[in-house]
Amino acid sequence: MKPILFLLTVLIPLTAGAEPASQVAWTPAVLNRVKSGDANKGRELAESCKSCHGDQGQGVAEVNVDDDILPAIPALAGQVATYTYKQLRDYDAGSRSDGSMTLVAKGLSEQDAADLAAWFASLPPPRDKQADMKFARAEKLVEDGDGKRILPPCFVCHGAQGQGEKMDIPALAGQQADYFVRTLNAYKNGQRHNDIYSRMRLIARQLSADEIKELAGYYRQLK
Ligand code: HEC
Ligand code: HEC
Repeated sequence: MKPILFLLTVLIPLTAGAEPASQVAWTPAVLNRVKSGDANKGRELAESCKSCHGDQGQGVAEVNVDDDILPAIPALAGQVATYTYKQLRDYDAGSRSDGSMTLVAKGLSEQDAADLAAWFASLPPPRDKQADMKFARAEKLVEDGDGKRILPPCFVCHGAQGQGEKMDIPALAGQQADYFVRTLNAYKNGQRHNDIYSRMRLIARQLSADEIKELAGYYRQLK
């Protein structure tokens, strides 16, 4: 465990002094708002999310909205509530942007975001039906990282089952693989920059295209 802690202490100061990546600060008031999110209200609001994110919030590999083919849409079901809340607030503030989600989030209040986050957190996480496959290189990155590249293992943050962790660390298990690849590439080229302390940008920059693809496959089938 020691080298891992060392890597994490090296990573964080590297990013000190940069522009704030997000306007969300985990004050007791914000945490309380998310914690007391009303899942029933969230379920009603979530009717409008189904056309893209799927009936059960499971995400979709490809979706046709008004004859526009959108690329893979992420799963929201079973996601850590504080993470979902943060992403909705980040889209609203412009810290993260997307043609569809910026518009959606601008129509939501902070309370709506908390209610939606509570609803999606209450749904069972997505499960891939495909048989278990072997992803040896991905498994090594997830479990051991790579000391030569100052790459901490994914599990120290995302959890051994890819279940995510408070406050802002997302669950990855069952996530749509094409979305996973797209968003890691977006961290890599800086298009996505709402990760506090650049934690994911620093990591994504060190991953090759093949590694990203394999990690996406690994997490997709993780239960
Ligand atoms: C028109 C399609 C569309 C609709 C409707 C839509 N979304 Fe999205 N959503 C997307 C796309 C596409 C992305 C991925 C965007 C990106 O890469 O930043 C996304 C991403 C997200 C994310 C970030 C997920 C992650 O893992 O980081 C959250 C949270 C989210 N949507 C919540 C919602 C909620 C809540 C609603 C309903 C109130 C909703 N969305 C409605 C298309 C949509
Ligand atoms: C130091 C902690 C840390 C480590 C180690 C880490 N992550 Fe992350 N990861 C985060 C945080 C925090 C976020 C969310 C940041 C934000 O708000 O955008 C994130 C987001 C992600 C996302 C976006 C998920 C989504 O739904 O949009 C993916 C994919 C991801 N990480 C993959 C990985 C992989 C693969 C590894 C290992 C190679 C890894 N992470 C290692 C902290 C970490």
